[in-house]
Amino acid sequence: MSIPLGSADQILSDSFGRHARKLRISVTDRCNFRCNFCMPQDPEWMEDADLLTFEEITRVATVLARLGVTNIRLSGGEPLMRRGVEDLVGSLSRIPGIRAVGMTTNGALLKDRARVLKANGLHCVTLSIHSLKPERYHQITGTRDVFWRVMDGLQEARNAGFERVKVNCVVTRGCNEDEVQDFARLAHDAEVSVRFIEYMPFDGSKMWDSGLVVGGEEIIRSIEAHYPLLPLEREHGATARHYKFSDNSDGEVGIITSMTKPFCSDCDRIRLTADGKVVPCLFSKQEYDLKPALRGGSPDPELSDRIRRAFLLKDEGIERMLRDHVELKLVRPMHTIGG
Ligand code: 5AD
Ligand code: SF4
Repeated sequence: MSIPLGSADQILSDSFGRHARKLRISVTDRCNFRCNFCMPQDPEWMEDADLLTFEEITRVATVLARLGVTNIRLSGGEPLMRRGVEDLVGSLSRIPGIRAVGMTTNGALLKDRARVLKANGLHCVTLSIHSLKPERYHQITGTRDVFWRVMDGLQEARNAGFERVKVNCVVTRGCNEDEVQDFARLAHDAEVSVRFIEYMPFDGSKMWDSGLVVGGEEIIRSIEAHYPLLPLEREHGATARHYKFSDNSDGEVGIITSMTKPFCSDCDRIRLTADGKVVPCLFSKQEYDLKPALRGGSPDPELSDRIRRAFLLKDEGIERMLRDHVELKLVRPMHTIGG
């Protein structure tokens, strides 16, 4: 069944005329990895009682779907650390109006779960893989003996028949910039979509420095030295600029230029943290706690109203922050909002 997208007065709009279409849900802040650009040195974990239940998450997503949201992506922390997340995928994919449910995972627990996730309605899976060299991979993730398990997870995701399998790679200068070609080869030969992400300023691990950011243009130039590329039309609201290979491999590469060329003016994302906060923008402190309303017996119209108010807090974005000389940094640890 499909419902019409929200009518003009139903669509979730912010004060800059942008509309929410994509919902990112962090289902847990826990992670079995300790990636150095994501995890604080001493993470403080959320209490179990503070996590939204699957029923509460599904209810929020249903209200959002009535307000025009069409796509959902589950993340963490590591979403596969949340027991039973397959059931949540099932409930979310059945919400009228939701066209696709995806998941971003580190892949370590994917191999045995890929098929159930697919059967329960997951459309698309993205694995975060930042090196194809086992020793370096272990250094980046702070976790030993997982590289080959992740590769098995990637292979199983490809076998399970998802509509799309993507790989996210955060590129940092002096660490993995020498692997851009190898990742491009993976995209070309394995016919997956590899997206290179510019390193965003998260200072919880006291490591970020502007000199460590490798810009998207440089990444594309480096790929083109081996593989001529053809730019694809950018979809409205897309975070990535995509390219296909000019020899017609079905693979694709993309660049997520959050730092050098942010796409805030047509951003259509809204985020929900594992403990029920609506976060309209990654780089802004503004957030809105839905839990009191969810647990206090508020009916759907009131929840809807609160979500509208939350989305009105959405910042204009990175361009505004640069204009106002606001220091750009991720104000929450990545593992609480989708790292
Ligand atoms: N900069 C850019 N990307 C990051 N991620 C985690 N931390 C950072 C950061 N500081 C990535 C994850 C995942 C995606 C959702 O965000 O590795 O692929
Ligand atoms: Fe875990 Fe992903 Fe953060 Fe790595 S980047 S520590 S896998 S949440």
